[in-house]
Amino acid sequence: MTSSPQRILSGIQPSGMAHLGNYFGAIRQYVELQEQGEALYFIADFHALTTMQDRQRLPQMVRDLALDYLALGLDPNKAVLFRQSDVPEVCELTWLLSTCTGLGLLERATSYKDKVARGIKPRAGLFFYPVLMAADILIYGTNVVPVGKDQVQHIEMTQDMADSFHAAYDCEVFVRPEARLVQSAAVVPGIDGQKMSKSYDNTIAIFAEGKPLKKRVMSIVTDSKGVDEAKDPETCNAYLIYKLVATPEQAAEMAQRLSAGGYGYGDAKKALLQAIDERFGDARERRRELVAQPDYVDDVLAAGAKHARRLAQEVVGKAREAVGLRGAPVGDLRA
Ligand code: ADP
Ligand code: TRP
Repeated sequence: MTSSPQRILSGIQPSGMAHLGNYFGAIRQYVELQEQGEALYFIADFHALTTMQDRQRLPQMVRDLALDYLALGLDPNKAVLFRQSDVPEVCELTWLLSTCTGLGLLERATSYKDKVARGIKPRAGLFFYPVLMAADILIYGTNVVPVGKDQVQHIEMTQDMADSFHAAYDCEVFVRPEARLVQSAAVVPGIDGQKMSKSYDNTIAIFAEGKPLKKRVMSIVTDSKGVDEAKDPETCNAYLIYKLVATPEQAAEMAQRLSAGGYGYGDAKKALLQAIDERFGDARERRRELVAQPDYVDDVLAAGAKHARRLAQEVVGKAREAVGLRGAPVGDLRA
């Protein structure tokens, strides 16, 4: 074991508005972990191309996600924030890893199968996505990867790819990464009770407010029990989301009211709306301030890219040497 601080890394695709599932499953942990080690967080724009091909919208989606991260508490003095595509070396490492990654490993990826089942075109990039994700993780010598449950298989695949690379080239280049899950928020339900996901149109956006937010919360699916009937909180989607947003005391109180009867689903939704406004009020304010400072966001991303790229070049150089290539390409400034 080394005594150096833990390196923490994670990424989110800029493919839609960040939602409560992203916050409780991932971003909240990012903010906590930036106090505990060397944290790197990125905007997975290369990955987003597997499902979203829209040159006009992509830059704004990337910027929006950067604003979300910063408004929710990511501190550029404590964590490195950058765009995945600002470190092209990840594509180089993706290739090197692919030379010893079994096709069977990729074929077992459930996220690929789910996406194809939902109608996303089965292109090579979508199939290859876990190799790019493994490169993202291994290139920064990552110890800990905070994610929601749907990503855990990809971290296990990353461990397998690192092992195969080490075995194939008889070397020890990569650090073994471990996933870090928050059990209580491993799968945040959406307004239809399925996993909340941008691809299911069932999200509550973190920065929605006013009428659109109300409309979303009020359309949370419930069963048809009347106000007077006793209800099981654990099957009430509004409660399951409330439990994450509100304080433990508030959640216990709602559970007790639902169980007792005389408290309708409409009441639970109103309480949820209020809890969301309270919980994210400050972050909304911060986000508005940040929107007014575009140069600040650009500067943060530029500094983050510089830092991340330096780390990446070091590891990719070792990987190149391990396979018998030059540590850096001829003419490269790294050389
Ligand atoms: P989406 O499914 O909406 O496209 P992403 O794949 O961009 O979300 O996920 C970004 C991060 O947020 C990942 O770490 C993922 O595990 C986490 N996450 C996404 N949805 C949820 C959810 N419903 N519950 C818990 N974590 C989630
Ligand atoms: N695949 C992740 C998602 O869809 C995003 C991602 C890309 C990622 N590379 C990563 C997450 C590396 C953690 C570590 O949510």
